[in-house]
Amino acid sequence: MTKIIVLGSNGQLGSDLIKVLANSVYTIIGLNRNDFDVTKGDIESQLSKYVNSNYIINTIATTNVDGCEDNPELAFNINSAFVTHLAKFCNKHNIKLIHISTDYVFDGQKTTPYVEEDIPNPLNVYGLSKYAGEIAIRNNLKNYFILRVASLFGIAGASGKGGNFITTMTRLAKEKDSFTVINDQYTCPTHTLDIAKAIKDLIDKEVTEYGIYNCVSSSSCSWFEFTKAILRLSNLDTNKVKPISYKDYSFKANRPQYGVLDTKKLSKYYQMPDYKSALEEFLQLKHN
Ligand SMILES: NC(=O)c1ccc[n+]([C@@H]2O[C@H](COP(=O)([O-])OP(=O)(O)OC[C@H]3O[C@@H](n4cnc5c(N)ncnc54)[C@H](OP(=O)(O)O)[C@@H]3O)[C@@H](O)[C@H]2O)c1
Repeated sequence: MTKIIVLGSNGQLGSDLIKVLANSVYTIIGLNRNDFDVTKGDIESQLSKYVNSNYIINTIATTNVDGCEDNPELAFNINSAFVTHLAKFCNKHNIKLIHISTDYVFDGQKTTPYVEEDIPNPLNVYGLSKYAGEIAIRNNLKNYFILRVASLFGIAGASGKGGNFITTMTRLAKEKDSFTVINDQYTCPTHTLDIAKAIKDLIDKEVTEYGIYNCVSSSSCSWFEFTKAILRLSNLDTNKVKPISYKDYSFKANRPQYGVLDTKKLSKYYQMPDYKSALEEFLQLKHN
């Protein structure tokens, strides 16, 4: 029986992975921070219980992008050093690693979608720490999938961010007369359920074409356009949201202006939906 370990099982993506994999023929073990805190104790000995696994899916990360600027030590500890231990462990015990990375490895200077071979150039500590995690995997392991994801929304909400963009926008539309959202930064908003389905598909199909895959919704938009779609589908007043340039918005961490990823490589195995279909499915699930 194929044994799969999901690290970060209470997180936004982790909890959708547990849901999707529960309806499968595999043995699934979900580990949350109480089972396994990667900043505490000896990582090798904590991992040693899982030497007989076939896959480890690592969704653990410190994901608060501005918070990482204040605490780079924690960012590099969780997003890079832990990933190095994990890659070495997987290599030693012949376990396939499915690891989650980010569009924030790129600087956003391109004007066409990023492909897997584009050279990263992170703009912030979070992106740098995630890129260092990618390098650690590449240097220590052959049987890996690194899935670069972006702008996630899931029913659980990101633990590091206290919710997700959709819940914040619907709250603002209910509480305020008007509010501003950036209209010149572009991304591929992605439902964590779709990433979980893509991962299950890679496992079901026993894919051995290892490497980096972009795993995002197959269409892109600005944050402003995304907000309009959220409000429209939630029957909220779309006129309340006003466009603003990222140049007039102050974040602690710099963010790529253009974070659109090309999904052609993944589509050979799994076709990600466009962001509007993904959003519709999310809102339906949320209201049921
Ligand atoms: N959210 C986004 O928009 C976004 C964008 C691009 C890439 N990503 C990547 O996607 C992946 C999943 O993100 P997500 O949105 O699902 O984030 P999330 O909900 O914050 O999940 C992160 C997980 O990491 C766990 N974790 C954090 N510190 C830990 C520690 N010291 N020991 C053990 N577990 C720890 C959290 O546990 P607790 O639940 O106990 O806190 C949580 O389960 C991450 O690799 C992230 O870098 C996310």
